[in-house]
Amino acid sequence: MHKKIIDKTFNMFWETEVPEGEVIISRTDLKGIITYANETFAKISGYSVDELIGKPHNIIRHPDMPKSVFKNLWETIKQGKKWEGYIKNLRKDKGYYWVKTEISGIYKNGQLIGYKSMRYKMPQELKKQMQDIYDIKREQEEGNVRVVIYINKKTYDRLNKLSKKLNKHPVEILEEAVENFYYIQEG
Ligand SMILES: Cc1cc2nc3c(=O)[nH]c(=O)nc-3n(C[C@H](O)[C@H](O)[C@H](O)COP(=O)(O)O)c2cc1C
Repeated sequence: MHKKIIDKTFNMFWETEVPEGEVIISRTDLKGIITYANETFAKISGYSVDELIGKPHNIIRHPDMPKSVFKNLWETIKQGKKWEGYIKNLRKDKGYYWVKTEISGIYKNGQLIGYKSMRYKMPQELKKQMQDIYDIKREQEEGNVRVVIYINKKTYDRLNKLSKKLNKHPVEILEEAVENFYYIQEG
């Protein structure tokens, strides 16, 4: 099963803002499986508390986030240090929300048994700056550029039909088509 990222509803452009003074709280086990979520987390992410508990925390991972951010996050918290940073998260309805995030360890009798996170509202200007920084990082690290293309309905329908038939993501089909065309043209 591939992720559906061709979406004519454009939910991906809808931002949900964390209200001033509210805090999104979650706790996980050592592997990042959610063990606690507060009501604010549920409200902002679009999931119910019951849906969140037992799920891996990457359920809200947004495709705009560079991999290296999470690598750095895990390296930091595994050492028992506190991680602070900015995260763009994916809502259940495919919209997004930005949060200033703090993640640290939970200890029992001096032993690390899990992690907790507190997430807050972020200034609008900072969201724009972080979007630019993450876009550049993602392009450098994964080679993935985010683009919005207007294509005619006939091409769109054919692309979706091919996608189902070949069980390939529409983006994969476009990439292959361009690759083949490029090969013919440029050798
Ligand atoms: C306490 C805690 C909170 C986390 N919060 C988030 C979060 O809000 N958004 C997110 O994408 N990942 C969060 N993560 C990191 C995820 O576990 C995961 O590493 C990340 O989504 C990237 O997914 P991947 O590791 O499968 O590539 C959190 C991890 C922990 C331990």
